[in-house]
Amino acid sequence: MTIDTLTIKDFRNYAAQAVKFSPGLNVLAGANAQGKTNLLEAAYLCCVGRSPRTAKDKELIRWGREQGRVSVEVQKRDGKTTVEARLSRNENKRIAINSLPISRIGELMGAVNCVFFSPDELKIVKESPTDRRRFLDTDICQMSKTYFYLLNRYNKILTQRNRLLKDGDSGALNSTLPVWDEQLAAAGAGIIVTRRKFIDKLKPLVKREHLFLTGGAEEIDLEYEGIGGAGAGMGASGGAGASMDVAAAKTAFLKALSDNRKRDIKYGFTGEGPHKDDFAVRLSGVDLRAFGSQGQQRTAALSLKLAELEIFAGEIGEYPVLLLDDVLSELDLSRQKQLLDRAQKVQTIMTCTHMDAPPEGAAVWRVEGGTVREWGIES
Ligand SMILES: Nc1ncnc2c1ncn2[C@@H]1O[C@H](COP(=O)(O)OP(=O)(O)OP(=O)(O)O)[C@@H](O)[C@H]1O
Ligand SMILES: [Mg+2]
Repeated sequence: MTIDTLTIKDFRNYAAQAVKFSPGLNVLAGANAQGKTNLLEAAYLCCVGRSPRTAKDKELIRWGREQGRVSVEVQKRDGKTTVEARLSRNENKRIAINSLPISRIGELMGAVNCVFFSPDELKIVKESPTDRRRFLDTDICQMSKTYFYLLNRYNKILTQRNRLLKDGDSGALNSTLPVWDEQLAAAGAGIIVTRRKFIDKLKPLVKREHLFLTGGAEEIDLEYEGIGGAGAGMGASGGAGASMDVAAAKTAFLKALSDNRKRDIKYGFTGEGPHKDDFAVRLSGVDLRAFGSQGQQRTAALSLKLAELEIFAGEIGEYPVLLLDDVLSELDLSRQKQLLDRAQKVQTIMTCTHMDAPPEGAAVWRVEGGTVREWGIES
């Protein structure tokens, strides 16, 4: 799929702007603080329903304005789609697909797909399990509304269980905790199985992308860690591994909950479950989360992102849009070249502060003070 047009009004440092993108490679070039990332953020908002940078939608509205608006016109295999996000200082954001307002953000999932990569994305490999779970969940949600709703449901049940653990007296704990355990395990099992399947699919693709970027000196590997085994997290029971089914995941989760009940009550918090799971990223057996060099972590994160493209292509039958923020400057020349070659087969919108020789056929845009112009065309 391709974003044909991005239209923004009072968003970040943009007053009003429309950009008609090329279906191939688009390069947004400009000095620091001109609005390059803001433009990618606007496109991302229409795909995922939130910013990749902040959870506070109001920060996106141009300073001094009450409202902001972003829309994309997208060409998909089965026709055109438009997505519009309206932001307001007084109310929650509103999103419409083909001019029809949606009532739940889940309805947006899959309308327009993108893969976003920025230097910040190094977090996926380097930082906490939360960042890796977000990576998995953002992707899977884009491909499956069911997963999106399951995750919401799980988080609601988890909040209730934690509240009970914290505030419930022994009577309430005895009578109600098993009920929450059952519900948590039922929702959690679906999440565990879906994530494990996703990692299974991702594995060979990441290996291929990593090989492609590095010339293949070392082999990258992924492994899900958590309920159901494979380097299981706190209290999870070992066992079935990647191929486990929902019933097995539920049984393993229920056992973990019951094994850790005392500790959960002591701390007033559920210490095991998909909200604590993680996945390992290893390079020739070495855990990159703890021991990777910056360059190794960056290449691993980029491989994960490029593998995502292929997953989307396999799941939904077409490539998503690739949004690359300031990635080239972080890569050595040979990796830059490999990445640009790779970006050929999808619509890519990428930012950079300077580009000496844009690849042939690329549409180059100059971003300056919240305006975007085709390179060389001055007004
Ligand atoms: N809500 C807002 N209203 C107006 N301006 C904003 C708002 N939020 C951010 N800005 C400004 O937008 C400017 C451009 O930000 P952006 O992150 O897009 O820069 P950039 O071109 O990607 O720069 P860099 O090369 O440093 O990454 C910043 O100077 C920032 O102060
Ligand atoms: Mg930027």
